[in-house]
Amino acid sequence: MTQSPTAKPFLDVLHGHRQNVPPLWMMRQAGRYLPEYREVRAQAGGFLDLCFNPDFATEVTLQPIRRFGFDAAIIFSDILVIPYALGRSVRFEVGEGPRLDPLDTPEKVATLNPQADFTKLEPVYEALRRVRAELDPKITLIGFCGAPWTVATYMVAGKGTPDQGPARMMAYRHPEAFAKIIDAIVENSITYLLGQLKAGADVLQIFDTWAGILPAREFQRWSVEPTRRIIDGVRAKAPGAKIIGFPRGAGAMLPGYIEATGVDAVSIDWAAEPAFIRAHVQSKVPVQGNLDPLVLIAGGEALDRAIDDVLANYANGPFIFNLGHGIQPETPIAHVEQMVKRVRNFRG
Ligand code: CP3
Repeated sequence: MTQSPTAKPFLDVLHGHRQNVPPLWMMRQAGRYLPEYREVRAQAGGFLDLCFNPDFATEVTLQPIRRFGFDAAIIFSDILVIPYALGRSVRFEVGEGPRLDPLDTPEKVATLNPQADFTKLEPVYEALRRVRAELDPKITLIGFCGAPWTVATYMVAGKGTPDQGPARMMAYRHPEAFAKIIDAIVENSITYLLGQLKAGADVLQIFDTWAGILPAREFQRWSVEPTRRIIDGVRAKAPGAKIIGFPRGAGAMLPGYIEATGVDAVSIDWAAEPAFIRAHVQSKVPVQGNLDPLVLIAGGEALDRAIDDVLANYANGPFIFNLGHGIQPETPIAHVEQMVKRVRNFRG
């Protein structure tokens, strides 16, 4: 495929059309590695004040586009705005990550309000409208939410944990109570994603950062099935909606995830096995990924080699160049520039 039918390289890939130069963006591309982000962040005060101020959110969403000319902008927000809209207390402590009121007993879950207050999320929609209005039409605007499993891990534990033990334990001991949390996230995420599409998002991504720590049966029940319900719910009202799934660490469970959820594309993490991905994943849907964020910090020849590997592994099929997870705050900007240049110079 040489000529792109719509001149929107990112959307063309999602329609299955390989591009000679793969479209490029980075997960967490608006963030602390950018001085201009740190400046706005300092003005905003708290992290949620940044997310819920349309001026600030629009500005930080556009910063990486101006600086690097990426093919996609992702709306600046967080997956934890859904628990926030459900009335949970959500705080971001500097240097510690998110803190929520733990929902770690069936008694506490019984008090969970299943209906989000969407007026709290109106600033996100407003930021989407403004970004879409300012963005070149060729650049894709991505809306997103967290997958129910990943959002629930933070709601149950009240914070990030190394192995999401509290949520896994609750799912075994109190599956009905756990299902109540999942159901609330499913229903409200459908509404939230539809709202983002209406406000101007071209594509949606569902982040399931903690999918890969579940045994197969639990993965099916708590990651795949709720994600399928969200996608079915969105498509019931927005039939052509394009949705990328990111079940991080799903490995050999990716083909089943694609089959069951109906995602249009998957994002793969840096540990994915290339021959397996080509044969069993990219043969079904376009893939996005999967440069190791640590090699982007390391830079130099190691970075060039890793970029070339990613391109050699996946750029012969429908492919979007990205990282295997979010960019880290200590990443030198010069290394991002090195990556952009090398990917743009690729001629497959
Ligand atoms: O990609 C983007 O540029 C869009 C914005 C975005 C953020 N979070 C901004 C953010 C997106 C898509 C997310 C998703 C998100 N948030 C996920 C799933 C993807 C992933 O990276 O695993 C998860 C698990 C969260 C929850 C979350 N938010 C955590 C664990 C943290 C703390 C970690 C950290 O880096 O401090 C956040 C805070 C957060 N979300 C920051 C940003 C830019 C850093 C906050 C700051 O500026 O101080």
